Amino acid sequence: MKLGFLAVTTLFLCEWAAAMPLDGKALYQENCASCHGPTGMGGAGPKLVGDASEWTPKLFERAVLRGIDDQGKALKTPMPHWEKGSFKTDKGAAPSKAEVDAIQHHLHALK
Ligand code: HEC
Repeated sequence: MKLGFLAVTTLFLCEWAAAMPLDGKALYQENCASCHGPTGMGGAGPKLVGDASEWTPKLFERAVLRGIDDQGKALKTPMPHWEKGSFKTDKGAAPSKAEVDAIQHHLHALK
């Protein structure tokens, strides 16, 4: 009885977490702002607002996850190739496209 209740509660909590909208602003602040600036206007890395924020999601995902820019050129260090890494709150799991899209939406909204 008790175990059944626990299993149902756990299932419910997992589904609830999966349905939560991703916080693109928090993801950006935690993982990108140190190089691209708190408002995406650039720093050690290039400005993203009004530039990469306007790329197609496919190109933006490719740049962030695989380090290839909109011209097909390899992005140099220190830009991380995120598919080999993990966002800070993801505990080692590789970033999902949905997370990358949420970051791009945040940057697009900053324009
Ligand atoms: C340690 C510093 C650093 C971090 C952290 C970082 N970047 Fe970068 N990023 C760079 C640098 C430097 C470049 C430019 C590389 C080049 O031109 O070869 C770059 C380039 C890019 C580009 C291509 C921009 C263009 O116009 O060509 C995108 C898109 C990008 N970063 C997104 C992100 C996102 C999203 C995050 C967070 C998930 C992030 N970066 C985290 C340093 C960083």
